[in-house]
Amino acid sequence: MATFKTRISQISKKNGKIILANDYESSVDNLEAKTIQNIKQLHPYLCGIKLNFHLLLPLGSKEISRINKIAHSYGLQTIADIKLNDIGNTNRVTTDHLWNVDFDAVIVNPIMGLDSLKKLVKLCHKENKGVITLCHMSAPEAKLSYDMEVKTGKTQQLYQLFLDWAIASKSDGIVVGATFPKIIRYCSQKAGKTLDIFSPGIGVQGGSAKETISSGTDYLIVGRTILEDKNPVKIAKDLQLQSLGKK
Ligand code: XMP
Repeated sequence: MATFKTRISQISKKNGKIILANDYESSVDNLEAKTIQNIKQLHPYLCGIKLNFHLLLPLGSKEISRINKIAHSYGLQTIADIKLNDIGNTNRVTTDHLWNVDFDAVIVNPIMGLDSLKKLVKLCHKENKGVITLCHMSAPEAKLSYDMEVKTGKTQQLYQLFLDWAIASKSDGIVVGATFPKIIRYCSQKAGKTLDIFSPGIGVQGGSAKETISSGTDYLIVGRTILEDKNPVKIAKDLQLQSLGKK
């Protein structure tokens, strides 16, 4: 079986670089049906779908499993956004559960430490699953933490250390917010093709699809800008074209 990196790259060649963040308010009903409807309607413009706690908490494993199977039937990759960050045993049990419901990849927080991250990546790769490591968040208030100076023999900023750890651990990709194009450029130049860059923060959070792609991002994660639009198909199509540099 191909790796997660290869699988998402293959579908993105055909469908573009948009990953749908399928997030809904807690007051919304019929989450499974709405998600399946989104997949059926939007799949030609997506390479993947990201499920966050918005769905992972209210839905059960049967529903999540069904959603992942339907996404796969259209060739989409599925990502669990839980920013996993725990001791080795908890990380292992958690990813076992994610793979049992058919996810392709997990987003993790490298603050767990380099050795734990390396072990987790090795474990996930054995199952042909992907690991995407948080590097710099899209929310402006997170800048204070991710830009913090850390001393590790040399002095660098926390996101630079996280980037080094993502490379050293052989993670498949990193998350860098679309709201920080300069940081995307830095990461892209340093990581080259060894890491894919995934950027949330387009539209509602202020990031521009065009600028994010031209800064070096490989995949755009988009939620409310698509889901809350009157015409989600039109906006997804538009973003798809922008992600391919065709608009
Ligand atoms: P919107 O609606 O703003 O949704 O398009 C964005 C999605 O991405 C998640 N998000 C992040 N995830 N690092 C992450 O790993 C980030 O910096 C970040 N910013 C937003 C958010 O939870 C939502 O699912």
